[in-house]
Amino acid sequence: MAVPGAQEFVPESHDLGTLAAAARGCRGCGLYRDAEQTVFGAGPTSAKLMLVGEQPGDQEDRAGQPFVGPAGRLLDKALIAAEVDRGDVYVTNVVKHFKFTRAAGSKRRIHKTPSRTEVVACRPWLFAELTAVAPEVVVLLGATAAKALMGSDFRLTAHRGEVLELSDEAAAALPGSDPYLLATPHPSSVLRGPSDKRDAAFAALVEDLHTAVGLLA
Ligand code: URA
Ligand code: SF4
Repeated sequence: MAVPGAQEFVPESHDLGTLAAAARGCRGCGLYRDAEQTVFGAGPTSAKLMLVGEQPGDQEDRAGQPFVGPAGRLLDKALIAAEVDRGDVYVTNVVKHFKFTRAAGSKRRIHKTPSRTEVVACRPWLFAELTAVAPEVVVLLGATAAKALMGSDFRLTAHRGEVLELSDEAAAALPGSDPYLLATPHPSSVLRGPSDKRDAAFAALVEDLHTAVGLLA
């Protein structure tokens, strides 16, 4: 089935409240059907730093707020270690509805990675947030976020921590916006990774957040 995409639901507005309210009614792809609610980004319009994750998880879907579950707690720890106040940061996701499956006979909802089609369908919301906030630096948390702005050929492992620029496709959608980008592993991958590698993965995330802050004017 064709996916209409979010574009027709995105108002001509640079006001985050207006955008978030409109996003509640988005039917740009099929993911709204099974999720509880749209989880829009959160943070001040004045934020110079923007963090972009993949999609809300189980707890975010219930709370209606990004990064408030286990991955969010790890992100909070990393921000503290990098001496960044989360209150100064705009935090969002590429995809605004939780995609999940249920194991047979279980109530537990298991995260499913969004498809490229869903990422592209939802991306107009991210473009609207980028336009409204106009951050100086964007940290892409994980491969889904990185590919959404850097193109589907982007390899996170090859370019982690490098200072990057928008793909031509994303730049065309964001005239006048020219943030530095930095891609780093997703906090969930730090949590899920092998325990002997967890400290190093966490340190890498903190180091990349440090680099991001260092790029701010
Ligand atoms: N993982 C994400 O990518 N985003 C969230 O908001 C929570 C978990
Ligand atoms: Fe709209 Fe994005 Fe939700 Fe799909 S995932 S319905 S495009 S807000």
